[in-house]
Amino acid sequence: MADIRINQIRKSFGLAVALESIDLHVADGEFLALLGPSGCGKTTLLRIIAGLETQTSGAVFIGGQDVSALPPRKRGLAMVFQNYAVFPHMKVRDNVAFGLTMAGADRARIQSQVERTAALLHIEPYLDRYPAQLSGGQRQRVAVARALAVEPTVLLMDEPLSNLDALLRLEMRAELKSVLQSAGTTTVYVTHDQTEAMGLADRIAVLHAGRISQIGLPDTIYRHPATKFVGGFVGSPPMNFLTLPCHGGEVRLGNLSLRAPCSAPTVVLGVRAEDIDFADPGVIFTVRVAEPLGVHTLLTGTVDGQLVRVTAAPDARPAAGETLMIRPRQDRITWLAADTGHALEPQ
Ligand SMILES: Nc1ncnc2c1ncn2[C@@H]1O[C@H](COP(=O)(O)OP(=O)(O)OP(=O)(O)O)[C@@H](O)[C@H]1O
Ligand SMILES: [Mg+2]
Repeated sequence: MADIRINQIRKSFGLAVALESIDLHVADGEFLALLGPSGCGKTTLLRIIAGLETQTSGAVFIGGQDVSALPPRKRGLAMVFQNYAVFPHMKVRDNVAFGLTMAGADRARIQSQVERTAALLHIEPYLDRYPAQLSGGQRQRVAVARALAVEPTVLLMDEPLSNLDALLRLEMRAELKSVLQSAGTTTVYVTHDQTEAMGLADRIAVLHAGRISQIGLPDTIYRHPATKFVGGFVGSPPMNFLTLPCHGGEVRLGNLSLRAPCSAPTVVLGVRAEDIDFADPGVIFTVRVAEPLGVHTLLTGTVDGQLVRVTAAPDARPAAGETLMIRPRQDRITWLAADTGHALEPQ
């Protein structure tokens, strides 16, 4: 049993607060993605779990044990760093074998594990090279192989696929997921790539400016963002937001009247590009740009001067300046408070 529990972690660097009141539980065998923009504190949190950074206050438990005062090597976990640190003086083979060698594993086991993980990460041709003779993406795969070779019960990964090209990343993503799932490894995976987080994770924790904005299933995060930040950060394109006047729980949008759970005079309507129909009654959308993306055409335009993106049929090619009637699907709307940006419960 190796769950991870993070209790009220706070970290400041001098006067700057990097993490504030972080509470998090990663269940045994769970894959949790830590998702957030650059500088939000992802690496700092991962390093605190690993014991490479000391928290200002709070505690970390692994498998029920308080490890806050333990050095990294006593925490029973493996880590892949953001800058894919591999030992430059060791051949790839010895890099991958490192953890097992240190643990005193026998030769046969070391050899079979090196072969297995090298195959998994497609680095067999490079086993007898030094890291300096590899590309960034190859080096990164060596770092992942080194962490997997020890079959850790807890694995911490910091943007492990960031240096791979798009196709290889897609392939590695699927392989990582299947390997970690079948091994039952408890994984915390840091990324700023929301597609990667959505595709890989059992649950996602969205980190924003040192705080957790939302933790939940990928679908929940995507469909029901808890804040404007989450809706805008997760999903491509980001969720659309329209700030609208609200009177007596009713919002007028063009010739459409919508019920809204608002108590303030203005409210924010959040809706995803694919959850908008071309329909009347609705509101006038003025096209600015049409981008044919193969699977659909993405239209960028305005509604009452506010930016809106809508997906249209793959062959749709409206001209700039053209107007269309659009209507958000009512069951797909997220209502948010205009002042705080927090989602409002439907009433
Ligand atoms: N050793 C340090 N000294 C001072 N400030 C630091 C230190 N390490 C990190 N920070 C600051 O803490 C904040 C969080 O940094 P962190 O590296 O955790 O971000 P991140 O989410 O991993 O970003 P990225 O996606 O760019 O890797 C940043 O504002 C950063 O400048
Ligand atoms: Mg980082």
